[in-house]
Amino acid sequence: MDIVVSGIRSTGNLHLGNYFGAVRNFLRMQEENKCYFFVADYHSLTTHPHPDDLQGNIRQILAEYLACGIDPEKATIYVQSDVPEVTELYLLLNMISYVGELERTASFKDKVRKNPENVNAGLLTYPVLMAADIIIHKANKVPVGKDQEQHLEMTRRFARRFNTMYGVDYFPEPDAYNFGKQLIKIPGLDGSGKMGKSEGNGIFLADDPKQIRKKVMSAVTDAGPEKPDSEPSEPVSNLFTIMNVVSDPSTVTFFKEKHASCEIRYGDMKKQLAEDIIKVTEPIRIRINEILADKEYMGRIVQKGSEEARASASKTIHEVREIIGYRSF
Ligand code: TRP
Repeated sequence: MDIVVSGIRSTGNLHLGNYFGAVRNFLRMQEENKCYFFVADYHSLTTHPHPDDLQGNIRQILAEYLACGIDPEKATIYVQSDVPEVTELYLLLNMISYVGELERTASFKDKVRKNPENVNAGLLTYPVLMAADIIIHKANKVPVGKDQEQHLEMTRRFARRFNTMYGVDYFPEPDAYNFGKQLIKIPGLDGSGKMGKSEGNGIFLADDPKQIRKKVMSAVTDAGPEKPDSEPSEPVSNLFTIMNVVSDPSTVTFFKEKHASCEIRYGDMKKQLAEDIIKVTEPIRIRINEILADKEYMGRIVQKGSEEARASASKTIHEVREIIGYRSF
């Protein structure tokens, strides 16, 4: 069985884009692979969350994973900071990663540009920690979006470099893992760009029906099609994209035809879209709240996950120390 690793940073709730773009694929992956899904809480520290919020953020993401159907009997679900072996591998990999290559990473340059007052060393070595997350389980496959491709490329490079430096064939070079068809990209409700956690353009799985109706009704559209059979403008086409994943095909066809004949009423389309989104999210939201209320259940899942993850991680660290040259006295 192939080994799959993926992490989600605990910075903000899961939205429709995370669900359709990532988490729903995890459900299929857990059937066919040995999967490790974890909450990347160390990675969330680069932005210095308040101590009163940290644990709540972790719990929320965990509850959301579980509510979406990630199954602790099939996959290993854990919290990154419960597995100290990851930080040891991170330290060891830091010795074979070079400041120059880290400084050239697109995500790092982006952070430096956006937050020049917080260029901490954790940001610089973010790809090293991510590589440690992945190769600690000797993963072959990593489900990642476009924005993480470069990080995965660096992971491959660090794995290769380790193998070359010590003359071993130890770490596999993990590949990106996505299901055949192109990645689904869910746009935001603000007219352009993709749905994001912090862009204020998203619908969260934890949103209640009232919030969802309000957000969808205030989504950006246009003044209406001017000529028959014209292409929908970007904001309207974005709503169709969301409709494509949540609504019945006949609903999409109905509104496409209304658009083509210039009879569309965006208010009607949005009302329908909101209800169809709610059909998807409402069972998940209810489940999130049930799970969050059951502290004992969450405790058990996290305990089981960290035991499984540590069993795999400590085996790797043991072997890595051996390869590097540590010997017992
Ligand atoms: N960097 C990823 C993100 O921001 C999160 C992440 C951390 C991750 N470690 C990982 C993803 C390991 C896949 C594998 O989305």
